[in-house]
Amino acid sequence: MSNANVIDETRGKSPKVNQFGDYEDTTNMSCKDWNERWGKKQTQFHMPKVHPMLSKCIDRLTDGKKNLRFFVPLCGKSMDLNWLLEQGHEVVGCDCSEAGCKEVFERDSIPYTTEYRQNVKSTLLKATDRKLSLYVGDFFQLQRKELGEFDCVWDRGSLVAVPVKKRQEYADIILSIMTNETRYLLDCFLVNNDIFGGPPFNCTEEEVNKYIGHQCRVEKIEERDAMTNWQKTWGLKSFVEEVYMIRLK
Ligand SMILES: C[S@@+](CC[C@H](N)C(=O)[O-])C[C@H]1O[C@@H](n2cnc3c(N)ncnc32)[C@H](O)[C@@H]1O
Repeated sequence: MSNANVIDETRGKSPKVNQFGDYEDTTNMSCKDWNERWGKKQTQFHMPKVHPMLSKCIDRLTDGKKNLRFFVPLCGKSMDLNWLLEQGHEVVGCDCSEAGCKEVFERDSIPYTTEYRQNVKSTLLKATDRKLSLYVGDFFQLQRKELGEFDCVWDRGSLVAVPVKKRQEYADIILSIMTNETRYLLDCFLVNNDIFGGPPFNCTEEEVNKYIGHQCRVEKIEERDAMTNWQKTWGLKSFVEEVYMIRLK
């Protein structure tokens, strides 16, 4: 075998297993890479129920108020979207998977319109009978001018899913849509990425403070052992979930 062939066979491969159960390098996934995973139905990150940390923290997040405006970045087809609507809130989400976003409407027979929003290079799916809007496109194209401001942000598996080198850019977009009243609930993981290729990528309290703490008060409000059989297949011995409540200073 020539040297050229050896190089070809190893390109893009990582010695570490990723969440999709193979050894592709997932440290720098693009929207195209995510859509390939969606196409192969590699969406085990999807929870078929409302996320327990969201239901546990909802009163602290909303202060018991209804009719709030929620942003759910990198929302996938999360059941949390439909649940937040049922709680009487407006919900805006974003994901690069068109199939995932469409499923959110279709599983509850929610009628919607489709409009291309050139300024954010995304397709906006908008319910006609309730306050649900999902942007299908690259999160990094979003701007406050298009989205407006939010009362609450629910971030599950999102900051920890983007490439680590893009975290500050991600945080800056979230910070731009916050007001003094906004509460940002952030769900992160402590995970050994020397063993597991990710995503999720490890995010400590120190790092949350590095990206967000210069503008916000960051309070860790929950911490739990989130190890399941799935994480055991990644070769991990520990997988800890940490939840932060974040508000502008
Ligand atoms: C780990 S999943 C979490 C999904 C969702 N938050 C949930 O709880 O089920 C990460 C999601 O981010 C989406 N994604 C990744 N990078 C993105 C980007 N740059 N713009 C928009 N969506 C992106 C993927 O398609 C995927 O649905």
